[in-house]
Amino acid sequence: MSAPPRDEVLALVEARVANQNLRRHMLATEAIMRALAARLGEDQDLWGLAGLAHDLDCEETGEDFARQGIVAAEALRELGAPETVAHAVMAHNPATGVVAESPFDVALLATDQLSGLITAAALVRPDKDLSGVKVKSVRKRFRESAFARGVDRDAIVRCGELGLDVDDFMGLGLAAMQDIAPQLGL
Ligand SMILES: [Fe+2]
Repeated sequence: MSAPPRDEVLALVEARVANQNLRRHMLATEAIMRALAARLGEDQDLWGLAGLAHDLDCEETGEDFARQGIVAAEALRELGAPETVAHAVMAHNPATGVVAESPFDVALLATDQLSGLITAAALVRPDKDLSGVKVKSVRKRFRESAFARGVDRDAIVRCGELGLDVDDFMGLGLAAMQDIAPQLGL
């Protein structure tokens, strides 16, 4: 089953997500998911779509955190997205009770956290410039448990289930985000 057109999904994101930083986080996650799919020989459009849409219900679900991902998955099904996409979006939030099992699920779970870590690593620089961030610095931030505490390191480590070591995953993610740095405001 093919993915709904990206412009339809983007329009949905823009209609339901007002916060610019959250939109940028979704674009970053999309870029990494596409790069990961390319590396693994998976469907770049489907993986990118899940990244782009994964938090589209954050603002409306708010404190009702267990529904975050469930509402987004429903919106994606209405657009005609395959169930694999809906499942990955639900499973990226462990609070839904949907378990990340497939490589697609694990990729989104790990990428969501990696995009957050890389963004935080760029923002902590005096120039806030993503082009100056190196894998080594992302790795260093990864080891500092007090840095970006909200980032789930265990989720990032699950890249191993996809056949990538952590440095490889960080390098792939960093390059993918650097490619769209202007869109990310970094
Ligand atoms: Fe996210």
